[in-house]
Amino acid sequence: MQVIEGIPELRKWIKSESKRDRVLVPTMGALHEGHLSLFDRAREAVGNNGCVIATIFVNPTQFGPNEDLDAYPRQLESDLEGCRSRGVDLVFVPQADEMYYPDRSVEIRENQLSTGLCGSSRPGHFDGVCTVVAKLFNLTQPDIAVFGEKDYQQLAVIRRMVRDLNFPIEVLGGATVREPDGLAMSSRNAYLTKAERIEAPIIYRSLCEVRDDIAEGRLKSGSEVEARLAEKIGRPDFAIIDYLKVVHKDTLEPLDEVERDNYRLIVAVFFGKPRLIDNLGPAL
Ligand code: PAJ
Repeated sequence: MQVIEGIPELRKWIKSESKRDRVLVPTMGALHEGHLSLFDRAREAVGNNGCVIATIFVNPTQFGPNEDLDAYPRQLESDLEGCRSRGVDLVFVPQADEMYYPDRSVEIRENQLSTGLCGSSRPGHFDGVCTVVAKLFNLTQPDIAVFGEKDYQQLAVIRRMVRDLNFPIEVLGGATVREPDGLAMSSRNAYLTKAERIEAPIIYRSLCEVRDDIAEGRLKSGSEVEARLAEKIGRPDFAIIDYLKVVHKDTLEPLDEVERDNYRLIVAVFFGKPRLIDNLGPAL
């Protein structure tokens, strides 16, 4: 496995590997099984003759002024071990000052899918995500890129960016990896107190129950679905709902009528301090 920090070295490597198909998995590090599963998905997509590229970069431009960029966990050695264990060919680990010129003046903004949900509570967040992902696409020139369904809005926004800007890249979604009790894996789970951690599976459990209610025709209107979810997820005292929506699975528009196969349930909830996100669509 190659580890590259500088852009000139990366360009050289990409040139030397130009005959093989490439698949990119961008991350901010602090890798857990959810991230590692994306490397497996990437390998499956590109085969043994292709290259799996991971990037590890805590991207400053997607953090808001009240979000603690400096506190984001950094554990490069164990991350590299994780990459190695899942057969990653190249890990690109740039420094912020090489990625961003101090006088930069161009960025990418998606104006529709990124305005609601996490976009409302994290203004500017998706501008930072789109800009860095576009840069990583340009730097690594992949044929395929893999993003987790765990960040469903991010996946939708990236798909839209790829479509609208004609990046010649196929975007694949990787299924959310969960703890045995259903809690979606996230580096933020480490900040839950014992009591909060015990209650946290209520998020996924509630999503599953509401999905079953929709499948069996017990819930039809968007407002009923959202009210039922709020009632279930808001049960623990310390659960404060940031947002909770049923939206169209591709456009992320609010749905008045929920059909069995057109929706995504998306929630963000403060569980004590950490803000947890999760989402679920119809069972296949
Ligand atoms: P990060 O939070 O490190 O996540 C990297 C990738 O891992 C994302 O595509 C995310 O959806 C996926 N992921 C996280 N938890 C997962 C889980 N439990 N199961 C499956 N996949 C999971 O998302 C980002 O970084 C950044 O915004 C980035 C795209 C790298 C741009 O900076």
